[in-house]
Amino acid sequence: MSLSEYRKDFPVLNEQKDLHYLDTAASSLKPKCVIDKVDYYYNHYGCNVHRGVYGLSYEATDMYESARETIARFINADASEIVYTRGASASLNLVAQSYGMTFINEGDEIITSELEHHSNFMPWLNVANVKKATVKFVPLTKEGRITVENFKSVLTDKTKLVALTYVSNVMGYITPIKEIIKICHERGIIVSVDAAQAAPHMKIDVKELDCDFLSFSGHKMCGPTGIGVLYGKKSLLDKMPPVEFGGDMADTVLKDSMTFKEAPMKFETGTPIIAGAIGLGEACKYLDSIGLDKISAWESHLGHLAATELSKINGVTVYNPSVETGVVAFNIDGVHPHDAASIYDENHVCIRAGHHCAQLVTRFLNQISTTRASFYFYNTEEDVYALVDAVKKAIDFFGQF
Ligand SMILES: Cc1ncc(COP(=O)(O)O)c(C=O)c1O
Repeated sequence: MSLSEYRKDFPVLNEQKDLHYLDTAASSLKPKCVIDKVDYYYNHYGCNVHRGVYGLSYEATDMYESARETIARFINADASEIVYTRGASASLNLVAQSYGMTFINEGDEIITSELEHHSNFMPWLNVANVKKATVKFVPLTKEGRITVENFKSVLTDKTKLVALTYVSNVMGYITPIKEIIKICHERGIIVSVDAAQAAPHMKIDVKELDCDFLSFSGHKMCGPTGIGVLYGKKSLLDKMPPVEFGGDMADTVLKDSMTFKEAPMKFETGTPIIAGAIGLGEACKYLDSIGLDKISAWESHLGHLAATELSKINGVTVYNPSVETGVVAFNIDGVHPHDAASIYDENHVCIRAGHHCAQLVTRFLNQISTTRASFYFYNTEEDVYALVDAVKKAIDFFGQF
């Protein structure tokens, strides 16, 4: 079941044989095919898109727009529903700034959760503050999960929009988002899904989910940094105003009035992230060629193995022992995660320590900081055991237990 044959596709892993890269939830490593594709654009084109009236620019435009089609196919959307952004944060902010600021009114309720990354919480807190709406939180279960029952408990006639993560970046739990969307749509409520930690790891079909908006980043799924995607149902994108103006999004501009191109173009101001988009299209092809189902199964195996092995160590608390994905949250009791991380680093274990841009989760766990190991298809069981060894060394070093 191991997918270790794909390790050879990653120059960093070929170069540093003793590296245990367990920080994919922050950013994945990049395979050669994506690097080559980005290179190809810069080596052979390098020009702008949508503007040049010459062959080179037409061809670059074709590459850029065909990447949009590939990305659309990756989540079973239509290309007209794919807005290129700078990343998941920009996508989530776009929903809040455009849809939220236009359609949320005084007295409305927005439902979110303590599991959210700041990028899926702060934009809505801002909308609520400006529009005099209220933010409500799905009560989490004792282990920190969102359940359908708990979600229903905060739903009211005033609920206008639900903004939830598909997979938590700290706890790795999968939200029962499909059931939640169904309940919302029976009441005409719009659902914006943060799929930054889902799109890289599991098959997403936006038609099957029936989500209204879905956001993700390229750099967490083998793509370049600086490119992200906002999927929005075309009917919603069409009625949303742009939030940035200028450049290619303009249709007619007069001294006292202006019109815009149709979605998705009306949301793409200025020269786009051309190489990033082309690289992300290649990343989607690459992930599809491996198979998202295989990827989820392998990561889930590694996540479960790591949670089990770490739980066996005296003095280690695993916060999500029942995790179903490749994200494991833990701490060595009494040792600050940043101190422990220096020992992990000495052992070539790359891991994240901190609040993971999700301070509400850290508070929920009654911690100031947690350690996160996150696995991808290029990780192996050896990576898990390297982590376990490094944790034992950190415990020895700090003289605990
Ligand atoms: C769940 C989740 N949402 C949103 C983001 C923001 O993504 P980006 O930093 O690529 O904008 C992240 C990044 O870690 C995340 O994990």
